[in-house]
Amino acid sequence: MIPDTPHIPDTVDVSSASDVLRVQDLVVTYGRHRAVDGVGFRIAPGESYAVVGESGCGKTTLARTVLGLLRPVAGEVALEGVRLDRARGRDLRALRRRVQIVFQNPFAALDPRMTVARLVDEPLRLAQPDLTAAGRAEAVSALLASVGLADRFLGRRPHELSGGQCQRVAIARALAMDPVLLVLDEPTSALDVSVQAQVLNLLADLRQRQGLAYLLISHDLGVVRRLADRIGVMHAGRLVEEGPAQQVLHAPSADYTRALIAAVPGRGRAALVGGAEAGAGAPAPGGGARADRAAGPAPALASASSAATAPASEPSAPSSTGSSQ
Ligand SMILES: Nc1ncnc2c1ncn2[C@@H]1O[C@H](COP(=O)(O)OP(=O)(O)OP(=O)(O)O)[C@@H](O)[C@H]1O
Ligand SMILES: [Mg+2]
Repeated sequence: MIPDTPHIPDTVDVSSASDVLRVQDLVVTYGRHRAVDGVGFRIAPGESYAVVGESGCGKTTLARTVLGLLRPVAGEVALEGVRLDRARGRDLRALRRRVQIVFQNPFAALDPRMTVARLVDEPLRLAQPDLTAAGRAEAVSALLASVGLADRFLGRRPHELSGGQCQRVAIARALAMDPVLLVLDEPTSALDVSVQAQVLNLLADLRQRQGLAYLLISHDLGVVRRLADRIGVMHAGRLVEEGPAQQVLHAPSADYTRALIAAVPGRGRAALVGGAEAGAGAPAPGGGARADRAAGPAPALASASSAATAPASEPSAPSSTGSSQ
């Protein structure tokens, strides 16, 4: 006798249900160019996974596919076991809300006409349509507090904020959607060095407090060292190495990874791979700053920041949230 089997829609991928994200054999093309070429990795709940690699290796293309903004020509993207690449219409919109992105350039990501209160209220209306105005105001304050901004910022517009404060607002907007996964595409590289460490600390802190998973995209190995549990090294559309962050940074197996690390200038490299003296794994206060300085433009990775800024290819956080509607 055949037991009753529950109907499982073909968007559900049972094998990856315990992962926040599972990417498998992913291929994404622009015309004939395979920008992502057979990439696979998994991110567990609360885990921070970094994808590193030089400019043009396909990091942002991968991120946009994970966000459901680009469709792969082959392979799978599953979010909490649900196939994002197969989802359509309302299902796709609902899935997209579970993944939010923080862009590199916070100024480009925020509508300059909106106040901070409105900027954070906007995604909240989508995420919690049943909240009353008073309930939303309270939630906006709580979200701002969670990113370290007091209520006095509520009436300000982006041009009245520092870069770091803008990035905090962008993070609050992402959190308003109650995501399981935050995609951080070069989250600090547009910021002043003195502010980078604070934003990195905030991101590390948020993950701990809220159990969020991160897909961190960066050309900056200092940032990666601060935030990542595991690292995937990408080269020409492929992952050439993957492993625990300490292992990849201290004992890389691929020649390409060794070259990436070797390309980080002297002091930075020492902080990066210096293990004990660099306080690896337990960054002391200010450790982030050291990592940031460490990061400084490495030859192989140098052009990443400027290229990644391109607001044209990443319209803006409002429309990114908008696209999640
Ligand atoms: N819209 C597009 N049309 C055609 N080719 C594109 C497009 N976007 C990216 N590419 C190409 O795809 C490849 C991967 O680009 P992608 O933006 O994913 O790289 P990246 O690793 O994010 O680089 P960076 O570190 O500079 O941000 C590059 O060769 C790029 O020129
Ligand atoms: Mg990029």
